Amino acid sequence: MQELFIECAGCGWREPYQKPRPACPECGGEWLDARYDYEKVRLKWDAELARKPFTMWRYRELLPLRDDVNLITMGEGGTPLYPATNLCMMLGRPHIYIKDERQGPTGSFKDRQASLAISAMKENGITEAVLASTGNVAISYSAYSAHAGIKLWAFLTSAVPAEKMREVALYGSEVIKVTGTYDQTKQVAADFARRKGLYQDRGIRSIAVRESMKTLAFEMAEQFGRILGPVSDAPWRAPDWYIQAVSGGMGPAGVWKGFEELLNMGLITHMPKLACAQVEGCAPMVRSFRAGLEKAEPVLNPQTLITTIATGQPGPAYPFLRRVIIENGGTFEMVSDEEAFRAMHVMAKMDGISMEPAAAVAFAALFKMVAQGIVKPDDVVVVNCSGHTFPVEKFLLGDDWARSVEVAAKAQAAPLPQEEGLLASLERLDQRVQRITIIEDNPEAVRLLRRVLQAHGEYQIDEAYDGKAGLEMVRQAPPDLILLDLMMPKLDGFGLLDALKADERLKEVPVIVVTARELTAHERKRLSGRVRALWQKGSFLSTDLLEDIEAVLG
Ligand SMILES: Cc1ncc(COP(=O)(O)O)c(C=O)c1O
Ligand SMILES: [Zn+2]
Repeated sequence: MQELFIECAGCGWREPYQKPRPACPECGGEWLDARYDYEKVRLKWDAELARKPFTMWRYRELLPLRDDVNLITMGEGGTPLYPATNLCMMLGRPHIYIKDERQGPTGSFKDRQASLAISAMKENGITEAVLASTGNVAISYSAYSAHAGIKLWAFLTSAVPAEKMREVALYGSEVIKVTGTYDQTKQVAADFARRKGLYQDRGIRSIAVRESMKTLAFEMAEQFGRILGPVSDAPWRAPDWYIQAVSGGMGPAGVWKGFEELLNMGLITHMPKLACAQVEGCAPMVRSFRAGLEKAEPVLNPQTLITTIATGQPGPAYPFLRRVIIENGGTFEMVSDEEAFRAMHVMAKMDGISMEPAAAVAFAALFKMVAQGIVKPDDVVVVNCSGHTFPVEKFLLGDDWARSVEVAAKAQAAPLPQEEGLLASLERLDQRVQRITIIEDNPEAVRLLRRVLQAHGEYQIDEAYDGKAGLEMVRQAPPDLILLDLMMPKLDGFGLLDALKADERLKEVPVIVVTARELTAHERKRLSGRVRALWQKGSFLSTDLLEDIEAVLG
């Protein structure tokens, strides 16, 4: 078991990590950090790291998850670090490296975040969640939540490219297009989550989210130790610059904490400088930094084609990043859309690296920093190169893959107009009318059945983990269908069927049995005429079962 605490950055309040908290109980601060027993980890790490594969979970000892059984991984992290050879020559800076985050499971650095955040959701028993996103987070969370058996409601601004939205839909998430800015979209999502009593991802305010980004720092330091060799006694090595495009800024904020931990443990000798890049049409951090503001002035009407980072309200990372950059060197830089698109061309044509516009913003910023002499000839520079969307086959999903919410004719500042129309349309978003109860003692089987129902149908799902609890549940709220396991503690499936058939209110409720058991002739006879279908576990696809379910429910 890990020794893990959470600590308030504002007042120092601390407690052993049990479950995520929304805020510090002492001062109400929302910036809570995870703290570990670093000495212990340092003693263990050489042996641990020698035997673990190169994914982000090789740094498990410094990631906040209580139990490995909840780990949802698809091999994220462990991405290559290599020099942009031709760019190095063009700019006369021989040490420019690409951290190639395109090679994650969904093509962006957000896969690290999704792996840890979705694992944490699983650990906390969450089976349905709400998220607002400019695209990549929704794509990544959708993939991981499919894996985890979590239903996701993804609220996206209508400016997000259709390719990205289609990818979200392909993974089985509910896609809600919001005509409005990203900040308005976040508010609509929050309203929806509140009305439905659903968990909403807390983005940068969540410990899991920032902690996941540390793994970028761990990997780069380990990789540079090998590529460039260690500095003095420290086995690993930090770069001089870490450059990333930011909206909320969780990338650099997490990376910074990762390097701080490595410095604490004596694995590196210096901290890198951070460069946070934004587009001119939505650069609240850059402009606020230059104006000397401690709190960022939001941009109410982002004007950029690069929607992935069009966040007008930067949130709590800005004061953090500002302090780090003032104390340690570093910079906030902005570029125009045109400069970003030019950088995209240059990188593809000169180094064979095709990236999405948001990542190109970081490269365009690097070009400026070199031109201004901010990046020195011997500096070791890393650029986070992220994000690509695979073109989801247009005809796979039909026309009916998203729903729409109109916020207002013209994008405008918060607060949202709380008109009837918006509330009514939020209400209409969730049209699940049919209720299905899963009665099954194996949690993995429940997760699979839940996912079948979540991803393909609009059903209200109840779950019970033994026959007795299942019977009580359906007595309280008779469902439209029961998915029933046979071998269960307390009351088995046969006994439960007997009880249903003896109950006037429940005897007509259709039952589909899903069992691992090879049935005897006698058992088959006991079921005959009482169940609508019988499926053997491990012998059917989700679509087969759904066909039966749809047939039963009409
Ligand atoms: C490719 C890419 N770069 C940068 C960002 C900005 O992320 P952050 O939240 O770390 O500011 C995003 C966010 O989705 C992104 O997808
Ligand atoms: Zn506090």
